[in-house]
Amino acid sequence: QNDKAALKQVLATELKAQDAVLVAHYYTDPDIQDLALETGGCVGDSLEMARFGQEHKASTVLVAGVGFMAESAKILSPEKRVLAVHDQATCSLDLGCAPQDFKQFCAAHPDREVVVYANTSAAVKAQADWVVTSSIALDIVRHLHAQGKKIVWAPDRHLGAYIQKQTGADMLLWQGSCLVHDEFKADGLKALMNEHPHAQVLVHPESPAAVVALADVVGSTTQLLRAAVNHPADTFIVATDQGILHAMRQQAPGKTFLAAPTAGESATCKSCAYCPWMALNSLQALQQRLSEPGPGIQIEPALQQGARRSLQRMMDFAA
Ligand code: 13P
Ligand code: SF4
Repeated sequence: QNDKAALKQVLATELKAQDAVLVAHYYTDPDIQDLALETGGCVGDSLEMARFGQEHKASTVLVAGVGFMAESAKILSPEKRVLAVHDQATCSLDLGCAPQDFKQFCAAHPDREVVVYANTSAAVKAQADWVVTSSIALDIVRHLHAQGKKIVWAPDRHLGAYIQKQTGADMLLWQGSCLVHDEFKADGLKALMNEHPHAQVLVHPESPAAVVALADVVGSTTQLLRAAVNHPADTFIVATDQGILHAMRQQAPGKTFLAAPTAGESATCKSCAYCPWMALNSLQALQQRLSEPGPGIQIEPALQQGARRSLQRMMDFAA
């Protein structure tokens, strides 16, 4: 414990020396989240992370999350040095949507507006009319649907299906999924709900439709956290990466948070909902990055420009 406190102190000093701000996602190590807040950085959902990195005056933005989050920070602030805590931290949605395949998908449907989830590469974002995150996807698709636009959506099929159902928009869905949220199971969730009939059920929309159908609240990580803080219930069942329980317990002390069951459940692992790539963001990885920062994320200029247009469009819509 003393060692950890000492390491955090060293890292805080180094962040300051390098004029770097730490921007973390709720799924990362609790120590990373705490350090971000203690050093004037932020912990947020994808949209908040992008906004904070863009608006902060630090010359270096250090992203504790996965690759697309660091890329988004660089796309929005090309003049800043943007570092990822860990180079190997990627996302199954990003991996499952290769830019060349996506190009063919879009080319086959030229009459449709192209809307992509933020969990994609810069090369996919550069092909899009709009980028969205889970916190604003419904509003943007509603806006497009009201204008009579038909949509090509990628890559998360569950989030796409949820938005389609909510808005009634005509959407063609790419068939990607998140390897963490795909594992939540409606049967196990129903059984847990029966054990806790007064619990509120909080679900991230990357989860399968049968799980989303059981939710009291569906939303981005920040929207789920807000519901946990503001709703008067004392027990919550949470269907998203369990890293978020740290912020929920901090911000809603005294309330009980239960992990929604997954297919991978075992005697030792009640809910196995942990993103393997988010888990790469440790204090040790951060120390390593700060000791050899290098030039940071680099994006080809043509992709940078194209991706910035669709990403900035979302930022402006959200403002
Ligand atoms: P949020 O934007 O809701 O934080 O989601 C990001 C993500 O990767 C969820 O798995
Ligand atoms: Fe990607 Fe899923 Fe990990 Fe989020 S939790 S970064 S969507 S693999």
